[in-house]
Amino acid sequence: MSVASAVAHPNIAVVKYWGKRDVAANLPAVPSVSLALGPWHTRTQVRWGADADAVRFGAHPAPPAFAAKALAHLDRLFPGRPRCAVETTNDFPTGAGLASSASGFAALTVAAAAAAGLDPSPDTLSRWARLGSGSASRSIPGGWAAWWDEAARPIAPPEWWPVAMVVAVVAEGEKAVGSTAGMQRSAATSPYWPAWLSEGPALAREAEDAVRARDLERLGAAMEASTFQMHATMHTARPPLIYWQPATVAVLHAAAALRQRGVGAWVTMDAGPQVKVLCLADDAPTVAAALAPIALRTVTLLPAGGARRVP
Ligand code: DP6
Repeated sequence: MSVASAVAHPNIAVVKYWGKRDVAANLPAVPSVSLALGPWHTRTQVRWGADADAVRFGAHPAPPAFAAKALAHLDRLFPGRPRCAVETTNDFPTGAGLASSASGFAALTVAAAAAAGLDPSPDTLSRWARLGSGSASRSIPGGWAAWWDEAARPIAPPEWWPVAMVVAVVAEGEKAVGSTAGMQRSAATSPYWPAWLSEGPALAREAEDAVRARDLERLGAAMEASTFQMHATMHTARPPLIYWQPATVAVLHAAAALRQRGVGAWVTMDAGPQVKVLCLADDAPTVAAALAPIALRTVTLLPAGGARRVP
């Protein structure tokens, strides 16, 4: 087998990964907990033994920085590898705080291993995906996953709990400072960094317990605590990292107003302006309707499974 394809879903962290305890090995400074979300996905094909290395993104050659990152990942996993052709497509916007690197490196890792005739365990695939991007480790198991160390592990499958993540897209376009650089700046310059590190493990345990108990209020409270603590390290970095736009803050207030009306709606943000609102799937239409006047558009995503080979 020298050609294989894989799909992987993005994931959104409910307890956030922000900072590395080992940069070379890409190990996290704090544990994180996430939910994989569909129907959005990345689909990637790897063909070993091409005439020259080539990375295509949809119908076009990939931007050079994107191609270089993908090829460097393959160099690291398969030293002395043959030349390869990689083709990848995303059905969602890249670089806008919507975790495209998670599904991208997860799909690339699974496709490359399969094309090489290997059948690694999910644990090994998660370790490998982590080397490309930390959050990609969590897209390998899919569903609810926790990442504390070298590999992410599953907590519960997607069908465990009928929740939804309503993404309020409030700005289009690539973010100014990517996650990798942003977390390094927070770690190097925020006076709140030690507090961020010390609070992380308890928040991750709280979120894992809440998922197992299907307790949305408990999970939502832990998710918001992790989110605002992470953004506090961004806002207090030098120079500060302010990913929020005015409409980001408007969505935060709209979610709080929904809760006042008895609708369980809890927010999280990543290294970008979009707000992701966690709620019960049955409440998603109500949440989306409340956010529609503020956001450019809303997208309702549902729990999804792990990265997998496809024909
Ligand atoms: C804010 O996984 O993109 O989305 O490991 O440096 O590639 P690297 O970082 P990346 O960081 C994601 C950060 C986050 C929070 C999260 O997904 O946990």
